[in-house]
Amino acid sequence: MEIIREVNEMHNRIMMLKQKQKKIGFVPTMGFFHDGHLQLMKKAKEENDIVVASVFVNPLQFGPNEDFDRYPRNEADDISKAEHVGVDLLFIPTVNEMYPQKMKITMTINDRIDVLCGKARPGHFDGVITVVTKLFHIIQPNQVYFGMKDAQQVAVVDALIHDLNFPITLIGLPTVREEDGLAKSSRNVNLSSRERNEASWLYKALKHGHHLVVDGEYNPAIIIKEINNIISDNTEGVIDYLEVLSYPELKPVSHMKQQVIIAIAVQFERARLIDNLLLSDDGHIIRFWKQGETK
Ligand code: PAF
Repeated sequence: MEIIREVNEMHNRIMMLKQKQKKIGFVPTMGFFHDGHLQLMKKAKEENDIVVASVFVNPLQFGPNEDFDRYPRNEADDISKAEHVGVDLLFIPTVNEMYPQKMKITMTINDRIDVLCGKARPGHFDGVITVVTKLFHIIQPNQVYFGMKDAQQVAVVDALIHDLNFPITLIGLPTVREEDGLAKSSRNVNLSSRERNEASWLYKALKHGHHLVVDGEYNPAIIIKEINNIISDNTEGVIDYLEVLSYPELKPVSHMKQQVIIAIAVQFERARLIDNLLLSDDGHIIRFWKQGETK
C-alpha cells in the first residue's frame, strides 16, 4: 500500500492509473477505522482494479461548537487496517494541503438538508460537498462507497453527483453493527459504559418501527410516537430528531407505502449517535443502495 500525503502526487498517480484504464474505487473517510469503514474498502476491492481510501478530518464540516478537536484519530492504526484489507493508495493530506488558503469559492447545498442532521448542523453538508468535490477531482474514481448509516450524506452526495455531472457511481453499503445492534461509529468511544448499554435501544426502537409497518401500520406519526417512547423509556439520551421521510428526496411523507427512511439522532453526554432504517414501499428493509437501483 502506498501512502500519499500531497495532492500533486496523488494527481500524478491517478493519471498513470487512468492511462492504464484502471477502474478506481474510492472510500472517503475521516479515519479512526472501524469495521464499517473496512467493509466499504473490502467491497471496493471486489468491484474495482484499484482502491483508494482517504483519511481527512475535514474542518469545514464541523460547526464552531462541534467536536473537530475531539474527533478521534489514530493514523498508525488506520494505516495497518487499510493495508490489511488491500487498499492500494491511502491519501492522508493535512488541512493545509487540502485548504492552502481560504476558499474563494463556496459551495452550498439547498435541498435535502433542511431535515435530520442538516437541520441540527447548519453548514455541515456545505463542508461535506466541498471536500467531497475536491476529493472527486483529485482521485477521479469510477465508483465511490459510503455507509448507509449516514443516509442523509448519501442523499446529499447523490444530489452532488447528479447536479455536477460527476461520472461516478455512488454505492451505499449496509450499516455495520455491534452484536447488540448499535451502529458502529468512531464516536462510540465517547460513550460512558452506561450510555453504551443504553445506546443499543436506538436500533431496537427502529426495528420496532419496522415491525409496526410490517403489521400494517402506515401512519408515520404513530411509528414516530412509538419509537420516541422506547428511547425515552430506556435511555437518558435526548432525541435530537426522529423523522420519517421519503428517500433520497428527504421530504415529509403522510404514509409509509413508499421508499422511506426512519432516521434518529440521540444526544448523549459526549456523543451524538445517529441511526436509520430504509424501507421499501412494501415495508422491506433496504440495506444496499445504489444510484438508480435498490436491493
Ligand atoms: O462520512 C465522512 O467520514 C465524511 O463526512 C466524509 C464523507 C469523508 C467527508 O469528509
